[in-house]
Amino acid sequence: MSNTYRIAPSILSADFARLGDEVKNVIASGADWIHFDVMDNHYVPNLTFGPMVCQALKPHAKTPAGLAVPIDVHLMVSPVDALAFAFADAGADLISFHPDASAHVHRSIQAIKSKGVKAGLVFNPAEPLDVLEWAIDDIDLILIMSVNPGFGGQSFIESALRKVALARQWIERSGRDIRLEVDGGIKTDNIRRVADAGADTFVAGSAIFGQPDYKAVIDQMRAALG
Ligand code: DX5
Ligand code: ZN
Repeated sequence: MSNTYRIAPSILSADFARLGDEVKNVIASGADWIHFDVMDNHYVPNLTFGPMVCQALKPHAKTPAGLAVPIDVHLMVSPVDALAFAFADAGADLISFHPDASAHVHRSIQAIKSKGVKAGLVFNPAEPLDVLEWAIDDIDLILIMSVNPGFGGQSFIESALRKVALARQWIERSGRDIRLEVDGGIKTDNIRRVADAGADTFVAGSAIFGQPDYKAVIDQMRAALG
């Protein structure tokens, strides 16, 4: 199991009028990754941002010491491949997509990896993990949705904990270094339970950007993770 926890603030809840500053501030506050929630008003009932925003923010995704901070693109779009290519060209370090959003899941994984970008699969609350049987050896990330995709600020769906534990078993059996990320409703008071279920990477939008002191929230999350 990856012994390093990662906190990935979702800019879905950031101030869209100041995204560059928000990215710099949340990284200075301790964020490990920047989570990009890409929505197309087709696969999900919301519309966010495209590859040009990723390209514009890429130079700001750096620590104060100048180290690159991974941009973790979560595609809630259908079809997948064209936007995956565009986000790869725009500087994404990881690109995850929903299997039910692609007509050819394995080909979409290959498309992402052909650009030298890490590939992940995202599972909605009622989506089974079955596709891992044929994809686990080709992916670098599993993202478990603990809310229904489309909006920030929703409540954590408890059954996600069972799916995290099942996904952890898949990873252990594969013997591969795959990150297990959870997205939706993550707060300072439940992140420990999500980690105990087997997650090592945590998306948090409203819990962080909804507060005045981003560092205080991230520090609390890290303290809870131990
Ligand atoms: C849902 C989004 C949200 C977001 C996190 O489609 O993916 O889960 O990242 O939002 P919060 O942390 O506010 O639940
Ligand atoms: Zn997301």
